[in-house]
Amino acid sequence: MATSVDESVFQPVDSSWAEFAQQGGLRAVIDPNDATGRRNAAIDRIQRLALERFAHLTEDAVVVDWGCGTGRMTRALAPSVRRVHGVDVTPEMLAEARATPGPDNVEYHDTDGLHVPLPDGSVDLVLSVCVLQYCVKDRETYQAVLREFSRMLRPGGRCLLIEQISPTGTTASDSVGDAATRSDYLAFGDAPLRLRNECAVRLGAPRLFERLTTMHRWTGPLLRGLTTPWILDHNSRLTIDELQDQPYVDWLFELEASE
Ligand SMILES: C[S@@+](CC[C@H](N)C(=O)[O-])C[C@H]1O[C@@H](n2cnc3c(N)ncnc32)[C@H](O)[C@@H]1O
Repeated sequence: MATSVDESVFQPVDSSWAEFAQQGGLRAVIDPNDATGRRNAAIDRIQRLALERFAHLTEDAVVVDWGCGTGRMTRALAPSVRRVHGVDVTPEMLAEARATPGPDNVEYHDTDGLHVPLPDGSVDLVLSVCVLQYCVKDRETYQAVLREFSRMLRPGGRCLLIEQISPTGTTASDSVGDAATRSDYLAFGDAPLRLRNECAVRLGAPRLFERLTTMHRWTGPLLRGLTTPWILDHNSRLTIDELQDQPYVDWLFELEASE
């Protein structure tokens, strides 16, 4: 049972989070190679929309944004809930998050990747966006992180994960390393969690409509505004069998803590 860990299991294969943090903006937390910013803007928009749709936030909720990076989602969630705790293993990411002005109900915490000093049963929702995809193949570590999620959650509390899966189990994006399947994420071990809902959010090889949202400097933002809700609707109805042409997909898992 992992209680401490070699932090290299949390790092991207082609760089380090400390280096990504130096990029600033969306390049620090999405694609550091996106020179125009259009791809990252499209990814940011669809992930935020997925969060809006599936997080079911209430104004008294306490939320943990696990692997918060520079606080992109932490700050986005804050106006809708009572408190958001941003948690990260990378001091450089947290320094950026803390230096960015944000709402008063946000608090940031360092972690070793497995533990955070919040009381048992004190959290309504744990969010993880593009974080667990780096350690899910190390099953012992992954399950130790899920046990920490379960410990913090109140009975009936939920986790919302938006993480990369490989529909074929063979391919992944450059930074993720070994391809992980949907089943890898569902191997909860002894963490008392159950799957409540799941769907595709974003395609690694976007189809025409999704590609158009990243194309032009002026039309891209307009198309992103207009078509992203429709693209999310469409993607969320796709089955794994219909995604066999995809190198990877951002997949949403909604998990519930057992009573
Ligand atoms: C791709 S970035 C995503 C940041 C943020 N979730 C977002 O979507 O904007 C991944 C972040 O997860 C952090 N991280 C990776 N493994 C972690 C772990 N086990 N616990 C906490 N943070 C972790 C990294 O330091 C990095 O800041």
